[in-house]
Amino acid sequence: MQQYFIANWKQHKTAQETRDFLSVFKDQIDVSQLGEKQIIICPSFTSLQAAQEIVKEHGIDVSLGAQDVSEFDDGAYTGEVGGSQIKEFADFVIIGHSERRRYFGETPEQVAKKVANAKKAGLTVVLCVQDENEPVVEGADLVAFEPVGAIGTGQAEDPAEVSRVFELLKAKINVPLIYGGSVDANGIVNYKSVPNIAGFLIGGASLEPESFSNIIKAW
Ligand code: PGA
Repeated sequence: MQQYFIANWKQHKTAQETRDFLSVFKDQIDVSQLGEKQIIICPSFTSLQAAQEIVKEHGIDVSLGAQDVSEFDDGAYTGEVGGSQIKEFADFVIIGHSERRRYFGETPEQVAKKVANAKKAGLTVVLCVQDENEPVVEGADLVAFEPVGAIGTGQAEDPAEVSRVFELLKAKINVPLIYGGSVDANGIVNYKSVPNIAGFLIGGASLEPESFSNIIKAW
């Protein structure tokens, strides 16, 4: 089964820092050892082009993603970035992250519009949900269970709780389920007990090439 390792860089790294990361990271992953592991890096919009260039130049085995997408079709929406604009550089997009819901007031309706727009542009959608009660939008290609208390706190969720929520999510949608929240190289093996886990969304521990590659190797 495909295992996804999705780096969510949030509001970190300039384009130059993105180039520097990838130049080091490419030597830390052994492509022959990756098997079914797929690596997806989601930098800021401003770094996507630089990331794409480096990935192509060195033939690095990673895919790219954005962290958000506009809910609108192209038009007069100052500051927004649409699906087709992202698709020039990336194949994935994270939608509905709890930080977007919390700091930018994103509603379930907006999340649904974003998913629809991303699909229209041919992007693969990674939908984040905080718990089993969050609406799971049709069209999501992967669903990430991201309990708010585990994000950026160092308090990764109990694998038994992840299993419980996965079970409930599975009843709603038949897509790969991943976990996110304070995942690191030490704690990741604890999730081997979660049935059918299809990977991880990783924030803080994905920012340094070594710590991100150690996570991937540890799985
Ligand atoms: P974290 O972030 O790994 O820093 O907890 C995860 C996320 O927000 O996707």
